[in-house]
Amino acid sequence: MRKIGILGRGTMALGIVQIFAEKEYEVLMWVRSLDETNPRQSVKPIERVLDRLVQKGKTTEEHMNITLSNIEIVNDLNSLRDCDLIIEAISEDMEIKKGIFKKLDNICKENTILATNTSSLSISEIANVTRRSDKVIGMHFFNPVPLMKLVEVIKGIATSDETKERIIKISKEVGKTPVEVQEAPGFVVNRILIPMINEAVGILADGVATKEDIDEAMKLGANHPMGPLALADLIGLDVCLAIMDVLYKEFGDTKYRAHPLLRKMVRGNLLGRKTKRGFYQY
Ligand code: CAA
Repeated sequence: MRKIGILGRGTMALGIVQIFAEKEYEVLMWVRSLDETNPRQSVKPIERVLDRLVQKGKTTEEHMNITLSNIEIVNDLNSLRDCDLIIEAISEDMEIKKGIFKKLDNICKENTILATNTSSLSISEIANVTRRSDKVIGMHFFNPVPLMKLVEVIKGIATSDETKERIIKISKEVGKTPVEVQEAPGFVVNRILIPMINEAVGILADGVATKEDIDEAMKLGANHPMGPLALADLIGLDVCLAIMDVLYKEFGDTKYRAHPLLRKMVRGNLLGRKTKRGFYQY
């Protein structure tokens, strides 16, 4: 697999684009709307990251230029026709995802694998709108993608072993450690991590400790690299809320009920780093 289509322009999509381009894959980054006057605008965040790494002497300017030249920006799904693998990293909306997968199924060559970076939605349901459910799979990366080693590889009910093996292989080729996970709400990491963040929000709302002390406590007491509230800001409070809502809806267990403070902050657009305000200011 050499030609990789990546859908989206958010943090996750950009990270996935970066790691494939760094390993010399031919990357087509699909964005819904293109800035006609400056089509390369979408890769600017990657340029900034690589530029910083050059300044720090962690990569060379030559490698940065090669990486950037491996990325082509497209906004016509038809351009993805010949891709060997497509990784979708657009918004966490089942209907939008289904619409895109249906189109991709009609457009792409027969053996293209269609992967989704969904953080909690059903792979089987997405696959069901295609005529290639054996070639639809979950490939779940973690934020920040270039630094986080894990990829959860999730088979839907009809995903073939061959598709799974190919995704495991390519995940290793881009320097990740794949873990095979059965389809279940939140898979493994988010089913543990997001309720933990939700609990931290509850602790804050109850006035048990300040946000700084909650984060410090988990850093020093549980050896987490960052505290749960700072992590929520990194992930995005909207993403955390959406995952809690999926867990609650799927399991029907009140232990997964999103804390009202989390919902209130999302309604107020305090989404974390992306809106420059969450539990902290950026
Ligand atoms: N590409 C390559 N290298 C990069 C980079 C990039 N995009 N961005 C930063 N780096 C390098 C930096 O240059 C830096 O190198 P030096 O220290 O040598 O200068 C190094 O990586 C570390 O950068 P930082 O100093 O910023 O990082 P840190 O040591 O403070 O760690 C962290 C940052 C990795 C985010 C760490 O705090 C951490 O692991 N936090 C937890 C993250 C986590 O849990 N993520 C999962 C979220 S859940 C999820 O994503 C799933 C979902 O569906 C919601």
